[in-house]
Amino acid sequence: MTTYVLALDQGTTSSRALLFNRRAQVVALEQMEFRQYYPQPGRVEHDAEEIWNTQLAVARACLRKAGVSASEVAAVGVTNQRETTVIWDRRTGVPIAPAVVWQDRRTSDVCEALMSAGEAPLVTGKTGLRIDPYFSATKIAWLLDNVPGARARAERGELAFGTIDTWLMWKLTGGALHATDVSNASRTLLCDLRTGQWDDELLQLFNVPETLLPEIVPSSDVLGYTDPELFGAPIPIAGVAGDQQAATFGQACFEPGCAKNTYGTGGFLLMNVGETPRESLHRLIATAGWRLDEDPTQYALEGSVFIAGAVVQWLRDGLQFFKSAEEIESLARSVPDSDGVYLVPAFVGLGAPHWDSDARGLIVGLTRGTTRAHIARAALDGIAFQCAEVLDAMQRDAHTPLKELRVDGGASRNNLLMQFQADISGVPVIRPAITETTALGAAFLAGLATGVWTDCSEIASMWRVDRVFEPAMSQDQRDTLMNQWTRAVGRARKWNQ
Ligand code: G3P
Repeated sequence: MTTYVLALDQGTTSSRALLFNRRAQVVALEQMEFRQYYPQPGRVEHDAEEIWNTQLAVARACLRKAGVSASEVAAVGVTNQRETTVIWDRRTGVPIAPAVVWQDRRTSDVCEALMSAGEAPLVTGKTGLRIDPYFSATKIAWLLDNVPGARARAERGELAFGTIDTWLMWKLTGGALHATDVSNASRTLLCDLRTGQWDDELLQLFNVPETLLPEIVPSSDVLGYTDPELFGAPIPIAGVAGDQQAATFGQACFEPGCAKNTYGTGGFLLMNVGETPRESLHRLIATAGWRLDEDPTQYALEGSVFIAGAVVQWLRDGLQFFKSAEEIESLARSVPDSDGVYLVPAFVGLGAPHWDSDARGLIVGLTRGTTRAHIARAALDGIAFQCAEVLDAMQRDAHTPLKELRVDGGASRNNLLMQFQADISGVPVIRPAITETTALGAAFLAGLATGVWTDCSEIASMWRVDRVFEPAMSQDQRDTLMNQWTRAVGRARKWNQ
């Protein structure tokens, strides 16, 4: 009997399920987009029930498509959009409010007040993060303080909090498992990065009752079993990690210094730093990578860019520039360059290395000759410029130039973007044969815990290069373009002053 591993990849805009065989090949893939809610400027919400329903539907469809039964699946791995906050009733399993998405900026005032009160050194020292609405803690407190009766119910132990991994594992096990792994816990602002445990001082500071919290577990271990009703037989849940950490694992970045960039909704650059967390001196964040069973936690440095692929979606849906996202490449290629147009996609403020909640998107450099093609090209350039800023900060933190950047995610299939990324950052960009590395990472974590794969070296041996993009731009030109970009970002940050 063939053995398969099922990966559930719950992202910001879609729920996906991928079935892998032992050779780490994709046997079936199913995907469903779900609704994004923008109830007010700066707010982004999801319906947690819709997330679960779409995730379950694609998982079932994936098995059906492959003609594989639950008993042939060795394990399920879960990977997820991180930080997004769900609170639900432990008895009924019903969420008390819409999920507050990682991009949501509704708590920026609270964060500013904590910064003004001088709390940043304590928080960064313990968590490796910044006080920013991006992370879960202030979102949890907001829900408790704004949903009538929620705080009292939480104090009585009636409610549960989870990021999307926790919510899915709760639903998959029929409420038997309330857990999160170290990579997801390290995104909440409530977890001590070194101990991998919830921290009392942080819980107090952010006003979050401990009764809400899930247990922190390894990223690779048999954690529970799916409810037999769901797939016809129970399947072990044996892998869980935030999507960016899972992608780092799927890219086989097992050695310190190895880095990857994922071009999803946002752009997330992570570099393995080994078994000790490293505090960033250049406005990046320190995060847990993964923990394999009893092994020590592996840590990473991360640069989080809030809008990457989402700008392409915006051109498609908001401005109706094209019908499918892939079309951007031919449109952008129809002009030699952006002709001096810069697009800063600060739609939800700016993440690393600026961390500016108030910045807003802009397009500058328009002339009477500007066409849709120039704007499309500027949008792609903008993705690469943002990632280049992060890469630069990462190299300063690492004290050594990066040898290469491994890439994945939807927009990594765009050759024009990848070449410009290599050009503008001066680092070879390597695209692997399998760009589904997020799901693959979750599958690897689950398969390692259940004997499908033996160890990390077996996994590393399955990682293959598809294409290398060598930098082909002079340092002078790189500097000129980067300077212009920096000026555009400066305007986006001060647009209303
Ligand atoms: O931190 C947010 C990140 O996990 C979202 O990832 O792939 O949905 O853009 P993605």
